[in-house]
Amino acid sequence: MYSFHLSQFTLITICISIFLLSPLSLASPKPHPFKKVYVFGDSYTDTGSGNSSTGPSIFRHVSSLPYGETFFRRPTNRYSDGRVFIDFVAESLNLPYFPPYLNKSSDTTHGVNFAVSGCTAIPYPFFVKNNLTSNIIPQSLPTQLTWFKDFIKGSGCNDAVSTPAECKAVFDGALVWVGEISANDYNYVYGSHVTSKTVQKLAIKYQTRFMKEILKMGAKYVVVQGLPATGCFPLSLVALAPPTDRDEMGCVATKNKESYDHNVVLQAKLRSLRKEFPATVIVYGDDWHAYREVYGNPAKYGFTERFKACCGVKDGAYDFNPMCTCGAPGTSSCKNPARYMNWDGLHVTEGLNRATSRLFLGGAFAQPPFPVRVSGCIEEAKCDKVE
Ligand SMILES: *[C@@H]1O[C@H](CO)[C@@H](O)[C@H](O)[C@H]1NC(C)=O
Ligand SMILES: *[C@@H]1O[C@H](CO)[C@@H](O)[C@H](O)[C@H]1NC(C)=O
Ligand SMILES: *[C@@H]1O[C@H](CO)[C@@H](O)[C@H](O)[C@H]1NC(C)=O
Repeated sequence: MYSFHLSQFTLITICISIFLLSPLSLASPKPHPFKKVYVFGDSYTDTGSGNSSTGPSIFRHVSSLPYGETFFRRPTNRYSDGRVFIDFVAESLNLPYFPPYLNKSSDTTHGVNFAVSGCTAIPYPFFVKNNLTSNIIPQSLPTQLTWFKDFIKGSGCNDAVSTPAECKAVFDGALVWVGEISANDYNYVYGSHVTSKTVQKLAIKYQTRFMKEILKMGAKYVVVQGLPATGCFPLSLVALAPPTDRDEMGCVATKNKESYDHNVVLQAKLRSLRKEFPATVIVYGDDWHAYREVYGNPAKYGFTERFKACCGVKDGAYDFNPMCTCGAPGTSSCKNPARYMNWDGLHVTEGLNRATSRLFLGGAFAQPPFPVRVSGCIEEAKCDKVE
């Protein structure tokens, strides 16, 4: 009798402990090595530094709906219907979305996003000198480094050799995220006498210089996203190539090759930087192949429309007219943005950002794999229920 009571008591105790522990362990965030994130890039990564009046004139309605309609339900100056790639990274790290640097009222405890739309890798004077008036954005990757230095000025960090303790404080538990950059550089010179090869050489030079500076300051963990498959966007299909210039997927062959080639050179630079800075982890984010994976298997990721812009003027093969873009009078957005991959002709939907960020976080499109893994739940409809 007594022993029966004892075992019953033990059983009850075990049940109670399981009952008490499990909700706690489910609610507590997964541990990960990053407390804060410093983000760089262009409109693919910008969370609100650029806007309708400062950003590229072709997408001049970013500060109004339907931009933001899917997720934030208001315009946030993100070039999408909802979250961009880095927002999904923030979620996977259980950190708040990284606030745009140019909004000085932001809380920067967990990071700051220096990315700004329209930004180039090559400094602005190059475009001015070559009469490339389609580039009206004075900011470049070197500008973002200047902003970063201003941001950390109070810390006393100069470089990891002369001010090691100060720089350790800046980079301790910090992830440096270098989002896609250089796509604008290539687009701005289209149709001019400046060749794609010249842009590649200069853009890589400035990307590498930026990396070296931040590594010398003491960055310990850096992710560098390569260029996506830029030939698959309506802007490229409509305005940056003749209709005969297509690959087997229906994307612009020369644009996809241009971004692929850029990535090959970039990865070679990353390999030498890994040798030069062996204490730092440098991850390459293989967006190009992630995009190709999704463009090649749209149904698998819940998409029914690969090429048409969800938001724009409903005409032509791509629902995209550079003179009348998303948000302009006479334009509208599609009924189900989650089924579209492209948002406004250049920028992608939250759906595609989700799919490509999941591929990165799943490990297969990051070299070496990112230490924070997220699996499953790529399709929007299935995903939002569990998140
Ligand atoms: C756009 O950016 C400029 C410069 O950062 C800022 O002064 C302005 O308030 C912003 N406008 C909107 C609509 O966000
Ligand atoms: C700046 O950030 C604050 C705080 O997050 C926000 O309320 C405000 O709308 C932002 N301003 C702009 C122009 O985006
Ligand atoms: C830029 O335009 C100016 C004035 O039209 C011309 O003199 C100059 O040669 C041009 N520069 C280049 C690099 O095309």
